[in-house]
Amino acid sequence: MDTIIAGIDPEHPDPEIINRAGDIIRSGGLVAFPTETVYGLGGDALSAASAAAIYSAKGRPSDNPLIVHISDLDSIKRIVRGMPDAAYRLAERFWPGPLTMILEKSDEVPSATTGGLDTVAVRFPSDPVAQAFIQAAGGYVAAPSANLSGKPSPTSSKYVIQDMDGRIDMILCGDDSRIGLESTIVDLTEERPVILRPGYVTLDMIREVLPDTVVDSALIRDDSDLRPKAPGMKYRHYAPQGELVVVKGAPDRVISYISEKTAEDSSSGHRTGVIAPDSDLARYMADVKLGTGDAGDSEACAHRLFDLLRRMDDESVDRIYAVGLAGGGLDDAIMNRLLKAAGHHIVNV
Ligand code: TXA
Ligand code: MG
Repeated sequence: MDTIIAGIDPEHPDPEIINRAGDIIRSGGLVAFPTETVYGLGGDALSAASAAAIYSAKGRPSDNPLIVHISDLDSIKRIVRGMPDAAYRLAERFWPGPLTMILEKSDEVPSATTGGLDTVAVRFPSDPVAQAFIQAAGGYVAAPSANLSGKPSPTSSKYVIQDMDGRIDMILCGDDSRIGLESTIVDLTEERPVILRPGYVTLDMIREVLPDTVVDSALIRDDSDLRPKAPGMKYRHYAPQGELVVVKGAPDRVISYISEKTAEDSSSGHRTGVIAPDSDLARYMADVKLGTGDAGDSEACAHRLFDLLRRMDDESVDRIYAVGLAGGGLDDAIMNRLLKAAGHHIVNV
């Protein structure tokens, strides 16, 4: 398949390009598009055939449900079986933005889109290109992250092209994703609101609106056999080709532990990589050293993380050490992605 690769102005998208992308979705095709979190791989959310096409383009198991993207609050009514008050309150505070809500689905949403579940994930992104595209596409765009299954979510159009060129109809190439981690998912179908995936909208921020919100216990206990409620969370996504270890502790101990390990690895012929705050990089000896930004700058770290993991692959690094974060707020989301990428291999020093 020939993929149309179209550059698009991030603030003032060209209506001609947007309408072409919208027409592709309406006629059953697939278009990758930028959002403020990561790039999405869009298809018509109300068509079972489009959902099947998305799974096949991604190489993704079809029991992993898709998020339905909307471009105005009113259109949610058609796809859910009633809006609880909590949903209105979260929408008022966080939409448009990097928050996904799980609600009971209406009959209009095919079960192919929701992986057979009777709930639906809904998100109203803030990115201007995403909004214009969703509207042109008819208002309901199902979209997982636009990576091949097993790769980190793409935060730059070049990675979408790497993964999807030849597999979908069109790629809208905008800016690098502002946030860089996928949306926070909150389930509103249980007695209390439950965070199924941490993201830029933190637990504390949600508790300001809904104080009884909890975090899915399958996310907290990394040793657990509990099945996460968001089916996607059970897959080992985001994994780099190399073996990744997260090292956490006081900065000096972390540096000496990693230095010892990279020395050992190098002498046994491995290619080593370190992911650490910019200011500490000079203290490491490794083949590839990539900075997360200033120490303590979680937003910079979130923005760069998936790019750093992809670059480690591009550099064929086979032993990667990443410095763990203290935790709390956005650090929770970053650590969640890092630990998943590391297959929960963490060393506390
Ligand atoms: O930021 C994002 O959310 C990006 C952009 C493109 O919007 N999308 C994204 O989609 O990350 P994806 O498919 O990579 O991740 C969706 C997650 C999966 O873990 C999936 O299992 C979960 O949402 N999910 C979707 N529908 C669900 C439902 N009805 N109940 C529970 N979990 C659901
Ligand atoms: Mg994904």
